[in-house]
Amino acid sequence: MEIVSTPPPAFPDGQPEEQQPKWRRDFPVDVEADEYGARRDFTKFLVLTSLAFACGQLWIAMLSVFRRRTFSEQRLTALDELPVGGVLPFHYPTDRDPCLLIRTSEQELLAYSSLCTHLMCPVLPQLHDKQLHCPCHEGFFEAATGRPVAGPPRRPLPRIQIQVREGVVYAVAVEERTS
Ligand code: FES
Repeated sequence: MEIVSTPPPAFPDGQPEEQQPKWRRDFPVDVEADEYGARRDFTKFLVLTSLAFACGQLWIAMLSVFRRRTFSEQRLTALDELPVGGVLPFHYPTDRDPCLLIRTSEQELLAYSSLCTHLMCPVLPQLHDKQLHCPCHEGFFEAATGRPVAGPPRRPLPRIQIQVREGVVYAVAVEERTS
């Protein structure tokens, strides 16, 4: 019967087994197999990461196409039912999107999403200070523009485009803004 002896394991530092620390003698590593495994794992990691990145790009592209959707028109109120200084809460474009319509003067109407761009708390109008206030983390937005002026929010409130026709106020679109 032929006796086949297995070759001694190759140690990374090239020293013989008796000079290796005990932990390495107890757990000898096949360096070649280990490197092969590491290369294969690294290649797998690269492929999966690239795939995830491509899926992310596709998702962002689909979102931007979806965002360019056309909005349906929604009647908000008769103009003479909203006095100067008055605020009308409404939802647009869906029932899950709370907004505020603000009449700042006889001629001026402003409308914004009322979800704070920090962590989505509802903002409250403080028209005496010409601001919208988010009580969650003391965020403030300028009422005239919806831009953040204090606190954690960095992005302006989405503006709701409105039209007044024959004395009736309509919401017609949402304008997402980054600055
Ligand atoms: S949620 Fe509005 S400031 Fe944080």
